[in-house]
Formats: sequence, C-alpha cells, structure tokens
Amino acid sequence: MKRVLSGIQPSGQLTLGNYIGAMQNFVKLQDEQECFFMVVDMHAITVPQEPKALREQSEAVAALFIAAGIDPVKSSLFMQSHVRAHAELGWLFTTLAYMGELERMTQFKDKSAGKDSVGAGLFVYPTLMAADILIYNADLVPVGDDQKQHLELTRDLAGRFNSRYGDYFKVPEPYIPKTGARIMSLDDAGKKMSKSNPNPGSYIALLDPPDVIRKKISRATTDSGREIRYDPAEKPEVSNLISIYGQCAGLTVAEVEARYEGQGYGPFKKELAEQVVAVLEPLQARYREVRASGELYDQLASGAERAAKVADQTLRDVKERMGFLLPR
Ligand code: TYM
Repeated sequence: MKRVLSGIQPSGQLTLGNYIGAMQNFVKLQDEQECFFMVVDMHAITVPQEPKALREQSEAVAALFIAAGIDPVKSSLFMQSHVRAHAELGWLFTTLAYMGELERMTQFKDKSAGKDSVGAGLFVYPTLMAADILIYNADLVPVGDDQKQHLELTRDLAGRFNSRYGDYFKVPEPYIPKTGARIMSLDDAGKKMSKSNPNPGSYIALLDPPDVIRKKISRATTDSGREIRYDPAEKPEVSNLISIYGQCAGLTVAEVEARYEGQGYGPFKKELAEQVVAVLEPLQARYREVRASGELYDQLASGAERAAKVADQTLRDVKERMGFLLPR
C-alpha cells in the first residue's frame, strides 16, 4: 500500500479544474492506498485573506472533499493548521532551501509580479508544501500540472536532507493525470482555469448552479472553424472543451471526437454543459447534506488526530537528526 498526500487551498471558489486535475484522482486513489488529504489554510494566507471569508471557505472546501467522494473514515481529511508539525517542519526546511531555487518558482514569480510589497510567506510557500508532503513520507502526490515544479523542489529537499543528515525521507513521486492535468480558462485557453481569475465567466465553480454552468459553457470562447478536433496547438479552446467533456463523461479524447464527427460547436457545447451538470449537480446535493449534517468538525478532528500521529513522529525524528536537544 502506498501513502498518498495532497492538499487544496481554501482561497476562493473551487473550480472544475481543481475537480478534474486533483479531487477526482484523490477519490480514485483512496480505495487502494493510505491517503491524507488536507485543506491548506496556512498556504492560503500567503496572500491576504479576509478572516471571515477564509473561515467560510475552509469549511466549504472540507465539505467539498467529502461531496466529491472522499470518505473521511477511509482517508484522513483535515485542516493543515490543525496539525501543527507542518508549520514547524516548514520552518526547518527554510534553512535547507536556497533563495535561488525559491526565486525560480513560477508560482512565486506570477503571484509577486508587479507588486510593491510581497509577503515573505509567499516566498517560502514551497518549503511548507515540501513539509506537508515529506512529513508523511508520502510515496505519491496527486496534483495538477501547475504543481509539478513545487514537487520537484520537494524531491530536491528530500534528497538534500538525506545527504546531509542520513537517509530518512522517501523521495515522493508526482501523480499527474495524462489528460485533465491542466484545464484552461473558458475565455482564454492560454491561461489555466483558476479560482483567482476576476472574471467568473472564465471558470466553472463547483458550486455554480446548473443554469450558470450552461450559460458559461455556451459563452466559452471557440474558434471560427466548426470541427470538434483535439489539437491543442491549432485549436486550444476546442481542445480544452474536449478534455472537459471526456473527463466528465468518462470518455477518451478520440471517443469524444468520434461522437461529434461532422457536427458543429452548437450541439457539442450544449451536450458538454449537460455532462458537466451531471457531474456537479449530485456533488452539490452531497455538499449541502455535508454542510447540514453537523458532522464535519468531528470528521476533521478525527482526521487531524490520525495525521498528527504520523507528523509528530516525523518531526521528532527530523529534529533528532538535525541535532536538536529533544525534550524528555
Ligand atoms: P491549489 O489549491 O491551487 O489547487 C488544488 C489542486 O488542483 C489542481 N488544479 C488544477 N488541475 C487542473 N487544471 C486546473 N486548471 C487546475 N487548477 C488547480 C492543482 O494542481 C492542485 O493539485 N500548492 C497547492 C496546494 C498544496 C499541496 C500541498 C498540494 C499545499 N500543500 C501538498 C499537494 C501536496 C495549490 O496551491 O493547489
């Protein structure tokens, strides 16, 4: 059995990109592997958050994990901030990482571009993420394509620790799906679909009502052709919609193309919207049940307790190897 770890930030509405690129794979992994999933609230505060909104979003994201199919009995589901060892190991890792490698992170470059003052937390974000992963000695980390670089840094830090202090950490493998790892914006196929995009028409939020989903998809940018053909270089918008269709309907790209051979964009988009609604409508119903159940806090507490058992031991081992005087 492999150990799996992943996290999602509670920094805004979750999108269909988060679902297809990440959550859906979490659910696939949880039956066979030992899984740890968390709401990474400590990462969310690396950009300013309004306290009330952060609390609401944190609860919403935790409930969405369950609504998407994460079983909090099978998997440990928890808030990152409830397992305090993450922050402590994150600090230890800031002493292992180099400024140059943190400066090269594209997420840091994107989020700090054009800003006068950039929080130091944003800079050391990847060291906390490395701590999240290595503290469980995870084998596999299911993420979308945009997290690849952070994963590589995590692997480097694991290797650096091992060579400095003796073999301890497993070097984790990214688990990035072949299709769906990078769902693009509906209004601009050059950008990934993102909850932080100021134009809500650019993404489908997991909690968008069906009619809003239909409207957003009918307005999604396409090209002036009429062929439903997967060709990311020539037809990036249509290719993105084909990926979404395939992921929601459980079809390969070739099967989607075959289904719409000789048909135009109109019927394709209409049916695409229905495929997305068919996935999100039941998820939304489960979400409302979870929020109403009153069980979420207990489920998170039990997840944090299980996670802390592993995390606290790792932290102790690491501190011992680094030469800290441990309390008796
Ligand atoms: P976050 O919160 O931005 O996104 C959560 C997950 O969703 C994936 N994702 C996408 N996949 C496909 N298409 C998209 N348009 C799309 N947008 C987002 C992300 O790749 C991610 O897997 N740094 C992480 C959170 C994190 C983490 C961790 C992940 C913190 N600690 C430890 C794994 C392990 C992040 O910002 O994800």
